[in-house]
Amino acid sequence: MTVAPSERRPAAQPFGSAVVPLSDILVDEEIEQAVADAVRSGWWSMGPRVKEFEDEFAALCDANAAFAVANGTAALHLALLALGCGPGDEVILPSLTFVAAANTIVHVGATPVFCDIAGPRDLNLDVKDVEAAITPATRAIVVLHYGGHPCRIDAILELAARHGVAVIEDAAHAPGARWNGRPCGTLGDIGCFSFFSNKNLPVGEGGMVVTNDEALAERIRLLRSHGMTTLTWDRDRGHAHSYDVVAHGFNYRLDEVRAAIGLVQLRRLAEHNAARAHLAGCYRAALDGVAGIEMPFPPDGVSEPSNHLAAIVLPERCSRNAFQAALAEQGIQTSVHYPPIHGFSAYRSIGARRPLPVTETVASRLVSLPLYPHMSVGDVSLVAAAASRAVS
Ligand SMILES: Cc1ncc(COP(=O)(O)O)c(C=O)c1O
Repeated sequence: MTVAPSERRPAAQPFGSAVVPLSDILVDEEIEQAVADAVRSGWWSMGPRVKEFEDEFAALCDANAAFAVANGTAALHLALLALGCGPGDEVILPSLTFVAAANTIVHVGATPVFCDIAGPRDLNLDVKDVEAAITPATRAIVVLHYGGHPCRIDAILELAARHGVAVIEDAAHAPGARWNGRPCGTLGDIGCFSFFSNKNLPVGEGGMVVTNDEALAERIRLLRSHGMTTLTWDRDRGHAHSYDVVAHGFNYRLDEVRAAIGLVQLRRLAEHNAARAHLAGCYRAALDGVAGIEMPFPPDGVSEPSNHLAAIVLPERCSRNAFQAALAEQGIQTSVHYPPIHGFSAYRSIGARRPLPVTETVASRLVSLPLYPHMSVGDVSLVAAAASRAVS
């Protein structure tokens, strides 16, 4: 049984009175049962469900190792630490991304170096600008697969190899996405995923780090749980009797209840991503090129996106505030992914070091429209009609 949105969400929050919310989660008996089973098991953290979730997620990514963590930000933090990023190092990333990557770079003591995006049709890193930003201090590049659309990873990997720089994939939007037949997350050195409530694999809070590098995997394993050589679960099963602490780690572990939800969501991911792809195709057919609207990431024959977002680029003459207000009046919730990081108070001085002209012009025209797997085609038509009216 699927619980209707009106039955499980109080009217005034958190999405106000939106008729079409930006994203939505299906809650059904399978999820409720999985949670109840995990709770009744009496083992609530880092047990068999976490292990199963990691194994199945590793298979999704063709990864040798997957580590379930508390959230996507923890995944990025562990990736940077495992690669040894620290004071004196520079780490390249797009300014057009969620702030988590920049914050974690600062937390390890390194300096974020913001790079431009390619253009309104490709909101991922501009490879030429990345090349221009590389210095002897560059230690890593954090690429985003914006909205689940794989970045130009071939060119980035070639550049990274030439300069001896690591590549971290911020694949928060991209579980199940593929580039040239290969899964996002294991295209670079380390892949980081988020299972926040609005993501393609929603758990509430949660994340995953994947890698095919054994040495990196060992660092991540240790740092996830205090630098301890064994887990409580290992000791409970008699696989170990004591532990040493060999690194200054964190508690970034995932609990069994969320792993149980994660397993259900993971088994639905392909179906949900296919539904997103169909709906994104409907948006594209209805809106791309209409009255100056552009839909980024036209099909390229190489990418199989996970369609986390339905982003559009408004025509230059159109006020974004007025556009969003017009849709809100009709009960349609929209958002902006993202206000560029270099514009935030905490990043303004670092951001001023490099010009980001394409990010500046394109980001001010970006709007994300509602998209979730169980959204109806009728609702896509309703949103598209409202959007084309608002720009005309
Ligand atoms: C691109 C991107 N990276 C990282 C994160 C951080 O993930 P979390 O919220 O799970 O810490 C998010 C989450 O919103 C994100 O969208």
